[in-house]
Amino acid sequence: MENTPARLTGGPLSAREVGIRSYVVRSGRMTDGQKDALNRLYPAYGVPWEPGRMLDSTALFGADAPFVVEIGFGMGLATAAIAEALPGTSFLGLEVHAPGVGKLLSEIEARGLANLRVCRHDAVEVVGSMLAPGSVDGFHVFFPDPWPKKRHHKRRIMNPDFIRLMAERLKPGGYIYYVTDWEEYAEWTLDALGAEPLLRNQYGRWAERESWRPVTKFEERAVNDGRAVRELKFVRV
Ligand SMILES: C[S@@+](CC[C@H](N)C(=O)[O-])C[C@H]1O[C@@H](n2cnc3c(N)ncnc32)[C@H](O)[C@@H]1O
Repeated sequence: MENTPARLTGGPLSAREVGIRSYVVRSGRMTDGQKDALNRLYPAYGVPWEPGRMLDSTALFGADAPFVVEIGFGMGLATAAIAEALPGTSFLGLEVHAPGVGKLLSEIEARGLANLRVCRHDAVEVVGSMLAPGSVDGFHVFFPDPWPKKRHHKRRIMNPDFIRLMAERLKPGGYIYYVTDWEEYAEWTLDALGAEPLLRNQYGRWAERESWRPVTKFEERAVNDGRAVRELKFVRV
């Protein structure tokens, strides 16, 4: 397997470590603007994939601020809006999809966001091999791929191994904030987060929406189609 993550925890090899991915590499076309942004702006706002080099968020952003990591930001519309709304927090967005990375880089430039960086690489590997235990204040996981077929559930990013990895990277009191419009995945994740001893649910069951999380077009469509949007917020004990 290419870029095998450094093993930072013990135990037998998990399914993920033998190559099961939470995404499929899409050959989606990039616009000229996205291509240009990727080439021109990644050197300035991109974080290179360097397994084993633990990120120092204070050095990366030049600010001693809370550090929040977003898993799979897609086109980055919510990411840019949240970074703009919370200038006192440092954000690192992780995404494999090149058009989305290009789009978010152009938003960073257009909005002049000093508190947002991106890394174009598998989030599972970045969290495992570039984030030190106890170094993160929050993880955002918004509308992750639901992988609805039962035989694909093992591809879901909110699996017990990755939840444990994120929990270990959190500081005490740090959080995982997850949102989905897929009811069965919401229940599945509620159970998986609830089964992790390092975490506790901040709410009785579903979380309240954070005021700074924008309603994206994707989310509007889900609501118009009659699907409930579920939120979960778990905190590191
Ligand atoms: C359904 S989209 C949601 C995007 C965005 N969060 C939103 O709310 O619109 C899920 C995204 O997660 C990305 N993704 C899935 N697994 C990933 C991984 N292991 N590392 C990085 N990105 C991943 C996919 O490429 C895709 O863009």
